[in-house]
Amino acid sequence: METIISYIDENNIDIEELKKHAKLLKEGKTVIFPTETVYGLGANALDEKAVSKIYEAKGRPSDNPLIVHINNITKVYDLAENISDKAKLVMEKFWPGPLTVILKKKSIVPNKTTGGLESVAIRVPSNKIALKLLELCDTPISAPSANISGRPSPTKGSHVIEEMNKRVNGIVVGGKSDFGLESTVIDFTGKVPIILRPGVISKEDLEKVIGKIEIDKSLLIKKDTVKPKSPGMKYTHYSPSADVFIVSGNNIFENVNNLIKENQKRNLKSGVICKSENKNLYTGEVIELGDTPLDIGSNLFDALIEMDKRNVDIIYAEEFGYEGVYQAIMNRLLKASGYKVLKF
Ligand code: TXA
Ligand code: MG
Repeated sequence: METIISYIDENNIDIEELKKHAKLLKEGKTVIFPTETVYGLGANALDEKAVSKIYEAKGRPSDNPLIVHINNITKVYDLAENISDKAKLVMEKFWPGPLTVILKKKSIVPNKTTGGLESVAIRVPSNKIALKLLELCDTPISAPSANISGRPSPTKGSHVIEEMNKRVNGIVVGGKSDFGLESTVIDFTGKVPIILRPGVISKEDLEKVIGKIEIDKSLLIKKDTVKPKSPGMKYTHYSPSADVFIVSGNNIFENVNNLIKENQKRNLKSGVICKSENKNLYTGEVIELGDTPLDIGSNLFDALIEMDKRNVDIIYAEEFGYEGVYQAIMNRLLKASGYKVLKF
């Protein structure tokens, strides 16, 4: 498959170039585009055939529903019904931005888009290229993260070109994603709103606007008895080829450096993902993520992908904490590691 690749500057958008991709989308084809969270692999959300191409390109199980992207809050009423006041408050407060709401779907939304569910996931992204593309193609766009199913989500143009070139009809490269973590997903179809996927907009941020909400208990612990509510949460995710371990407890530096020495004896290359302040304390391939939760979040997937490029066999990732944005970061790391935590 031929892929049209365009490089677009978010602050000086070349409309004519972007129109090529809007045209592809209108024709029922697939286009990867940047968002403020991660790159998305888009197709017309109202066209079942187009949506099938997304699942094909990603190698994604088709019972895993997609997020529908729109460029204006008013369009939510075309796609969903029974929208609660709390859902409206949240959309008004956080859109455009890294938040997805789950609402009861209208029949116009095909079952392919929602994985057969009666609900639909919707968001208005804030990335200017994404918004312009949505405006130009004038249709809602389904877009999961633009990675092969199970791999870390792409946060840079180079990630999508390396992984998805020739698998999609268009790629719009638009710089590094601001947040680097997928949107917070909150379900408004039940009695109490519930977070199905943590993101940069935290439980605390949401509770300030609509009061008490719940969080899916399976997000931070792996217990076979806790059934994940969001279909996407049951699959392996965010995994680089290397084996990932989260490290926590006492004397982490000494313990990790000892493990690295042991690995070396077995000819295994080790990598460490850590806060910048700790970067000089480890041996092995060290990738620093920054010191603030927003920096750490925005660099996480890139670090996992980079470790593969450096042929690292085993990655040790620091346990950063579980408050606010760290909840989203640790959710992704726990999944990437298959929930393997080394407690020293
Ligand atoms: O930030 C993002 O949300 C990115 C960018 C591209 O917008 N998209 C993204 O899509 O992360 P995806 O497909 O990788 O993740 C969508 C998540 C999955 O966990 C899926 O199961 C869940 O949202 N989801 C979608 N529709 C749902 C629904 N109707 N009910 C429950 N969960 C749903
Ligand atoms: Mg994904």
